[in-house]
Amino acid sequence: MADIGKVAVLFGGRSAEREISLKSGSMVLAALNRRGIDAYAFDPAERPLQDLVDRGFERAFIALHGRYGEDGTVQGALEMLGVPYTGSGVLASALAIDKVATKRIWASLGLPTPAFEVCLPASRGTQLVQQLGLPYIVKPAREGSTLGLTKVTRAAGHRAAYRLASSFDVDVLAESFVDGRELTVSVLGEGAQAKALPAIEIRAPEGNYDYRNKYFTDDTRYLCPAPIDAALSREIAALSVAAYRALGCAGWGRVDLMLDRDMKPWLLEVNTSPGMTDHSLVPMAAKAVGIDYDALVEQVLRSACLKTAARGKGQP
Ligand SMILES: Nc1ncnc2c1ncn2[C@@H]1O[C@H](COP(=O)(O)OP(=O)(O)O)[C@@H](O)[C@H]1O
Ligand SMILES: [Mg+2]
Repeated sequence: MADIGKVAVLFGGRSAEREISLKSGSMVLAALNRRGIDAYAFDPAERPLQDLVDRGFERAFIALHGRYGEDGTVQGALEMLGVPYTGSGVLASALAIDKVATKRIWASLGLPTPAFEVCLPASRGTQLVQQLGLPYIVKPAREGSTLGLTKVTRAAGHRAAYRLASSFDVDVLAESFVDGRELTVSVLGEGAQAKALPAIEIRAPEGNYDYRNKYFTDDTRYLCPAPIDAALSREIAALSVAAYRALGCAGWGRVDLMLDRDMKPWLLEVNTSPGMTDHSLVPMAAKAVGIDYDALVEQVLRSACLKTAARGKGQP
């Protein structure tokens, strides 16, 4: 496809989610090639981003996850290099990767997200139990794939939970546990054009949706569209779009939520560079509205742009 030009699929990278990115990226690359797009693999862990310019790449599809891929750093480098890229810009990416920053913004706008406290090395389980109740969740502020996350069921369990989370990130949060169903909502587009795809309900064995269940087993069940009534579906779609827009996300993203026993939704996080493996959820949601994997990949690619240039004058 001549109008798109030479495309780099950025995948691999140096985050803890490198393995998933390798899977996502190779599938994205294959899809683009099937669509007749002149696309190539590009692993930023193995070569400098400057190569994108030197080798004449005209767009980048970001299939990196986690640090140096989903957190605004690679987005900033691409802005500087002038290479249009998929997904959210610098600020939205940096906010979304940081669960504390994300939750502060949502809370300030009155969007429902579970109560939380930033954990310090001196934080005590007994104090957190008073603030958040039991059980509560301890997790690193900037990690993904459920890595470093613990459900704390008694105050004495706090120390080990904190130690584990802080091995992934210096910033750690504790969050009230939401007992209920787990949903994820994919969003495509930007600003007033942003639209939610049908919600997916995730049913993991014993409600334990961890790294292994996410990527390596077939025991987790995914219900798409989620079996919830039409009014609640609309409410959840609107809430997810509001959560996405609150952070200034663009292109595409996936909002993780919990639905409590009273059918009240609670926002957990936004993934700005969602997985694109054969187990992945955005492709599943797209399929439910008739967008197949290859068409989804092309649609996301076509939304690639430079966000900084598009947003203001910047130059006289
Ligand atoms: N406050 C919470 N209440 C209940 N379950 C939670 C809570 N926070 C996280 N979880 C569970 O852990 C999973 C991962 O948490 P999440 O905040 O989405 O981080 P990440 O996906 O970046 O690791 C969620 O999908 C959910 O199953
Ligand atoms: Mg998540």
